[in-house]
Amino acid sequence: MVENLKSQFNRIFGESEELHQFFAPGRVNLIGEHTDYNGGHVFPCALSVGTYIVARKRNDECVQMYSLNFEEKGIISFNINQLEFVEDHDWANYPKGVMKTFEDANCPITSGIDILFYGNIPNGAGLSSSASVELVTSVMLKDLFSHDVSMVDMVKLSQKAENEFIGVSCGIMDQFAIGMGKKDHAILLDCDTLNYQYSPVNLNGASLIIANTNKRRGLLDSKYNERRSECERALGQLKDVVEISSLGALTPEQFEQVKDVITNKVDRKRAKHAVFENARTIEAVERLKKGDIAGFGGLMNQSHTSLRDDYEVTGFELDTLVEAAWAQPGVIGSRMTGAGFGGCTISIVENKKVDNFIENVGKTYQEKTNLCADFYVVQIGDGAKKL
Ligand code: GLA
Repeated sequence: MVENLKSQFNRIFGESEELHQFFAPGRVNLIGEHTDYNGGHVFPCALSVGTYIVARKRNDECVQMYSLNFEEKGIISFNINQLEFVEDHDWANYPKGVMKTFEDANCPITSGIDILFYGNIPNGAGLSSSASVELVTSVMLKDLFSHDVSMVDMVKLSQKAENEFIGVSCGIMDQFAIGMGKKDHAILLDCDTLNYQYSPVNLNGASLIIANTNKRRGLLDSKYNERRSECERALGQLKDVVEISSLGALTPEQFEQVKDVITNKVDRKRAKHAVFENARTIEAVERLKKGDIAGFGGLMNQSHTSLRDDYEVTGFELDTLVEAAWAQPGVIGSRMTGAGFGGCTISIVENKKVDNFIENVGKTYQEKTNLCADFYVVQIGDGAKKL
């Protein structure tokens, strides 16, 4: 792979000896959805697929970027003193935004760079290809310009780039999972404190299967921001009666006692999801540690129901895929993963039933939606790194 990317680099930018290679994975979240920006817990893991960079420093101030995934866009060039969002620069705004946040954090970009990108995360699937591009850019900048930044710093800078430069108000889960991922482990992250612990994903003869709805996710950003505001409004009213700084600070029991202070019924449902999903996530990790895979799977199912009924971020395609999964023998748990409104589901399926699962769920999904789902057996990989 890397050798092939190096020869592509030489073809596009001209021969060079001094090449550096970097990688950042995609991510999938096992449980803890729409809890990160509510100060709750998440439980994601890094994938073995992701984004690769081959790069070299230049002697001038010119940055040239090329993606093998968007060849029609050609080479995108700009000066290191012109780190502004340019509509026409399309995908390259993600790495450019990271360069800008590095500059703003006193980690200067002191020369131009030629950069080749290639990603093998399925496109638009909600497996965080954008955060993957951000983190692979971060590890490249740290290395090429010898900046003294930790991985957690790079996670925060990458999230800042997405929030401020791209204008998407995502939480920290994706960047954290991608920066801090560890092979064969998921990360229990407290998004309020950023305390985290790794937990081995040992499924006793079962596998994690991602199924992609292949539904285009229109309206995603506006609906995402709407959910954030609904939760913030609910939190604002709760603060009149309890001393909390985020919904993640409440247990389900405490929530039940004070929930009526939230006047808007919809806001109350959103807050309920955030509180209960946080508790489910903590419990799910306990179950996994004890080897109670069935218990973990049951909580995944509850997570989906809550995302469908209370948070309302699923939609026909995700519900169809999950309900088809629930009906299959050997399925221990299944839920939507990521922001929702399309994208992927994640299921735990007994190894000997995986082929049946893919065939039957795929068939039911196609009959009901006229769309063809893609299936991937998850390999949990490491976080962003120099190769
Ligand atoms: C997207 C965001 C994350 C998180 C999830 C929902 O992936 O980027 O920060 O909020 O949605 O859990």
